[in-house]
Amino acid sequence: MSVTIGTPLQSSAYKVLLLGSGELGKEVVISLQRLGVEVHAADRYENAPAMQVAHFSYALNMADANELKALIERVKPHLIVPEIEAIATQVLVEIEQQNIATVIPSAQAVNLTMNREGIRRLAAEELGLPTSAYRFANTLESFRSACDDIGYPNFVKPVMSSSGKGQSRVKEYAEVDAAWEYAQTGGRVNQGTVIVESQIDFDFEITLLTVRAKNPETGEIETSFCDPIGHHQDAGDYVESWQPQIMTEAALNEAKRIANKVTVALGGCGIFGVELFVKGDKVWFSEVSPRPHDTGLVTLASQFQSEFELHARAILGLPVNTERHSVAASAVIYAGTDANNLSFSGLNLALQNPATDLRLFGKPEGFKRRRMGVATARAETTDQARELAQEAASKVTVHLNK
Ligand SMILES: Nc1ncnc2c1ncn2[C@@H]1O[C@H](COP(=O)(O)OP(=O)(O)OP(=O)(O)O)[C@@H](O)[C@H]1O
Ligand SMILES: [Mg+2]
Repeated sequence: MSVTIGTPLQSSAYKVLLLGSGELGKEVVISLQRLGVEVHAADRYENAPAMQVAHFSYALNMADANELKALIERVKPHLIVPEIEAIATQVLVEIEQQNIATVIPSAQAVNLTMNREGIRRLAAEELGLPTSAYRFANTLESFRSACDDIGYPNFVKPVMSSSGKGQSRVKEYAEVDAAWEYAQTGGRVNQGTVIVESQIDFDFEITLLTVRAKNPETGEIETSFCDPIGHHQDAGDYVESWQPQIMTEAALNEAKRIANKVTVALGGCGIFGVELFVKGDKVWFSEVSPRPHDTGLVTLASQFQSEFELHARAILGLPVNTERHSVAASAVIYAGTDANNLSFSGLNLALQNPATDLRLFGKPEGFKRRRMGVATARAETTDQARELAQEAASKVTVHLNK
């Protein structure tokens, strides 16, 4: 059965509550707005990107169960769409159990993926998917032996963290204690558990955007894949991405097998960003986000339906099409400075080539490594598209205002 969309701001409104209102949420909101959905956007601060295009917005601490519960009771949404990990997910489990609203893609998926331990144990131990070797540790002593067990170099990450926070690559035993200290201050929860992972010596890494959506004829949930997205990470953040990433047929099939298995286990409808490491025909599962992925911003330029439109359609029970029309790339635009109320110029130069495009997110506050926008470009090859996108991004200059 498909959804019936009412009229926004009337009693018939079909309401979506977005938890987290960053640049990815902003594009999801725009897609939902186009389909006549009434959108409510929440974040910890006011005037966040997605709030600027929503019907209503709320600034609150979403990690506080009481505050989150009160907001859900007030808005009475049909769908709750988490856009970030730092939320009181136990509230979402209760909301789903009591049939108060549908959690996207499912409360279980949101709950498991917010913690590296939950998703890693599911993927490696329950589903038997190939991953790096790993150990968990919650004291300095157990951490030291976990590092020695796994060997060097290894990757250390707080289980409750994202975007590289508190993470380090430990090259030798002498660096172990510093990595522990760093992880303890960089996670969402102090004194938290960390994961130690063996380093995978990959040729490249990909995001395989995987969509679970209802087949319009059968009503069954089906899985479809976007073409693989290649990307470069720097200090835990993506700096450029491109689509398609060329890989062997065997590796692509293995990537799809892994992505299918993990997304079926998480359940529900929507888009998932499945992060994988690839070496020749071999593929390792790294992690998965049950929502649009930052590296997937490239799909704004490469696909008939961007990852944001795919998400909007899938969560509303509508048909999806993951077809790509162009080879494309994206390059991130940073603030480059710690300041508010920034201005951007050089847009005319960035957009001079008709195959380029820009998104400026409208974030009220900038800091040096904060992503403020993205440039995209289409071309014949991914190398050309990458070059064009980077050039366009570099033409945008950021100015301070008083
Ligand atoms: N075991 C590993 N072997 C090799 N490289 C790794 C490993 N773990 C992480 N990396 C590198 O570090 C990057 C960030 O790791 P990961 O995705 O686990 O962290 P994250 O904080 O969730 O990042 P993001 O939020 O940007 O996805 C990976 O994309 C990869 O480039
Ligand atoms: Mg990641």
